[in-house]
Amino acid sequence: MPNFNAVITGVQGWVPNHILSNKDLEQMVDTNDEWIRTRTGIEERRLLKGEGLATSDMAVEAVGRLLEKTNTTKNEIDLVVFATVTPDMRMPDTANTLCDKLGLDNAFGFDLNAACSGFIYAITVGSQFIQTGMYKKVIVVGSDKMSSIINYEDRSTCIIFGDGAGAVLLEPSQEDVGFQDAILKGDGSGREFLYLTAGGSKTPTTRETLEAGQHFVVQDGRPVYKSAVKGMSSVVKELMERNNLTNDDVSWLIPHQANKRIITAVAGKLDFPMEKVTVNIHKYGNTTAATIPLCMWEWENRFKKGDNIILTAFGGGFTWGAVLIKWAYGT
Ligand code: COA
Repeated sequence: MPNFNAVITGVQGWVPNHILSNKDLEQMVDTNDEWIRTRTGIEERRLLKGEGLATSDMAVEAVGRLLEKTNTTKNEIDLVVFATVTPDMRMPDTANTLCDKLGLDNAFGFDLNAACSGFIYAITVGSQFIQTGMYKKVIVVGSDKMSSIINYEDRSTCIIFGDGAGAVLLEPSQEDVGFQDAILKGDGSGREFLYLTAGGSKTPTTRETLEAGQHFVVQDGRPVYKSAVKGMSSVVKELMERNNLTNDDVSWLIPHQANKRIITAVAGKLDFPMEKVTVNIHKYGNTTAATIPLCMWEWENRFKKGDNIILTAFGGGFTWGAVLIKWAYGT
């Protein structure tokens, strides 16, 4: 048994103003609104525009507002766990950049890369520091500027992704609420289906890699789709069984927003009613590490204290998993 329960005491999202609609994409690549809506459920996505603006700047907006909302002073924060695949730079990490930009003078932080599963990995990691009693205030943030690694001439990827950020504050509690359980999985053989070739130690950036467009995301959509449906539905089932939960006991399912059809298929396999599934992919597309906290932020007012909520995600790697939390506030 943990010494303390790790409880979410606030959640906040932030998305940029600039909207890239399906109609806009029709002007850029050979696609159409009908295809995108029916195949993915996406209607528009947000892009971060502005010279020098990066992933950390979206996180600054989300975390800054989160601190205000929860009446938390900056020097109270102990740790920032920052989930992202689009760090501001290869080095240093974006978590420390965020701490500096926001003035979180007593915090340290680190980045965590688990692609679209980043947030569920990060909230599991952050919770451990609270449960052991080591820290009292931990920020978990998911932020991705996907537009920085997407090829807007590749119709198979540019229609899917968007930019955004979301964050939660974790604090200790003696009450039986908060982080309950997690099952996290990985299968590195999935790396052939979703990857970015150049810029790492295997293939450093050269003129040739740039000319070949190897600094952009490549995805083989079909196998990712199938593995995502199978991975998320089976891990949620396993988590529910392990915690003796039926569908009636679970108030909300918060799935990673990769494709509306994937979300519907996962709910279908679990026989879980769509009224209890959060969906905002039509507005933001796939914001990678930010999709789950963005959903939590939008649904926050509907959550009640004691609600069992399951987060589930699947992403590049492959990485996937599910987290069970008992919501800690709201009536
Ligand atoms: N507009 C119009 N046509 C398009 C298109 C686009 N943007 N993208 C692909 N097509 C075409 C293909 O060329 C293909 O044409 P063909 O039949 O003449 O060869 C046809 O549409 C079907 O392509 P396919 O890739 O099989 O479509 P799909 O139904 O699998 O949908 C994805 C593609 C990417 C939307 C879907 O596979 C998906 O969502 N995969 C998972 C993505 C994901 O979750 N990624 C993040 C990791 S969590």
